[in-house]
Amino acid sequence: MASIGIFDSGSGGLTVLREIRKILPDERYIYWSDNAHCPYGEKTPEYIIGRSRAITDLLLSKGADAVVVACNTATAAAIATLRAEYTIPFVGMEPAVKPAASGTRTGVVGVLATASTLSAPKYLNIKGQYADAVRIAEHVGKGFVELVESLELDGPHAEAVVRASLEPLLAQGADTIVLGCTHYPFLLPLMQRIAPDGVKFIDPAPAVARRLADVLKMHGIPTSCGTPGVELLSSGPDATLKKLFELI
Ligand code: DGL
Repeated sequence: MASIGIFDSGSGGLTVLREIRKILPDERYIYWSDNAHCPYGEKTPEYIIGRSRAITDLLLSKGADAVVVACNTATAAAIATLRAEYTIPFVGMEPAVKPAASGTRTGVVGVLATASTLSAPKYLNIKGQYADAVRIAEHVGKGFVELVESLELDGPHAEAVVRASLEPLLAQGADTIVLGCTHYPFLLPLMQRIAPDGVKFIDPAPAVARRLADVLKMHGIPTSCGTPGVELLSSGPDATLKKLFELI
């Protein structure tokens, strides 16, 4: 059985854990919500690297064989450093610009992510690869992480917050919208209600889950041979984490 560490600035990474457990249901998962330090989206790369190191040390002390950085912001800021400093494999998030670029009919792809992800070299590089093929419209999902962490997934206030970031993308003609932050899939039902029919939202989590399965195989880490389970840990109060875990 593999022991997989997963971390995010908060509960967003649960949307990745959900997809991972669909294809690797029999592993042991140790999930760390760094909610005492959330949100990461407006922190410096140095700060996020420091948190990512501390969390990796903790997950290793709990027996993790591999770590999933279930946070686009931490992946963009810290995964290269983690890979250079530790010997275990790391799997991170990739903004799903590629499938979005091949699926759009209007030629406009929308990307919703944190400010930090949208300015990171990793994202700018991916975006550059598709610049000739499609137009990319971007918006920070302002306030989205806070909505999720306060369990406000619907209602008039949540709708107003989500509209303020989603409508500018729709107004630019985006018909395919990349969810570039792992908290955002919790707001997907609300986003689907706001967007006109035919607008597609792309969550990279299923692709990340498939990548994890491949990486475990490549590293000879055996799977499906023990008592599965999920251990939920957090740096702050854990009520939201537990509640959202029940929803996935
Ligand atoms: N869930 C995060 C991400 O995927 C981090 C959001 C935040 O803490 O700002 O980017």
